[in-house]
Amino acid sequence: MPVEEIHTGIHELDIGNRKMLATRNMMPGLSVYGERLIVEDDVEYRQWDPGRSKLGAMVLKNFDIPIEPDSTVLYLGAASGTTVSHVSDILMDGLVYAVEFSPRTMRDLIQLCDQRPNIIPILADANKPRSYAHIVEKVDVIFQDVAQPNQAEIAALNSKYFLEEHGHLMLSIKSRSIDTTASPKKIFKDEVRKLENGFDIEFEVLERKELDPFHEDHLGVLARIFLEDEE
Ligand SMILES: C[S@@+](CC[C@H](N)C(=O)[O-])C[C@H]1O[C@@H](n2cnc3c(N)ncnc32)[C@H](O)[C@@H]1O
Repeated sequence: MPVEEIHTGIHELDIGNRKMLATRNMMPGLSVYGERLIVEDDVEYRQWDPGRSKLGAMVLKNFDIPIEPDSTVLYLGAASGTTVSHVSDILMDGLVYAVEFSPRTMRDLIQLCDQRPNIIPILADANKPRSYAHIVEKVDVIFQDVAQPNQAEIAALNSKYFLEEHGHLMLSIKSRSIDTTASPKKIFKDEVRKLENGFDIEFEVLERKELDPFHEDHLGVLARIFLEDEE
């Protein structure tokens, strides 16, 4: 079966004329959320369902993914670790700090961390980065997927605390968590504008694309901190 590496650690498998997104399984034999395991040339891959993962959708939407095998990543809104597990697969020599504020969900995430030493679980509210500043170091990438009304503000707050000067922010903006009546396009425009100059940290937005058909009314954003001397 043809296997193409589309980004370091991210693969596309050709299964009977159908493409399947996958990561190389760091823990062969173990599936995390019931996903398919496929062995090819003695390598085991885990199917990555873009319908269950905003990051997976961003990969298929051809975002320039900034996560490399030696990156450190701060993941906000980890839930039980569906997407975090794929980030963990990519990070052969890296580390992901996984922040989640639901204690019930955190129990499942901790079980995943028992299998995967490169995930550090943090039970905390992403609105309060100071509460985990003693655990998290500076990171190369912040990935955020929290269904909250102040998504741009949470991203800015965490970037101010934790993002390396040349690091990247990847954000999934869910319009319905911000306003159920306004048009998603207007909400996306407003949130992106806030990111660009609504806070005391400014971002340069590198890419923005809606995540349909994988996730309706979601916008994916790739940004980095705006540095004046680069103008
Ligand atoms: C859409 S789910 C995330 C799914 C996950 N990113 C994945 O792909 O596997 C959003 C998660 O964010 C968490 N969340 C929402 N607000 C949060 C906050 N302020 N701080 C930390 N986690 C939060 C929710 O409890 C929920 O588990």
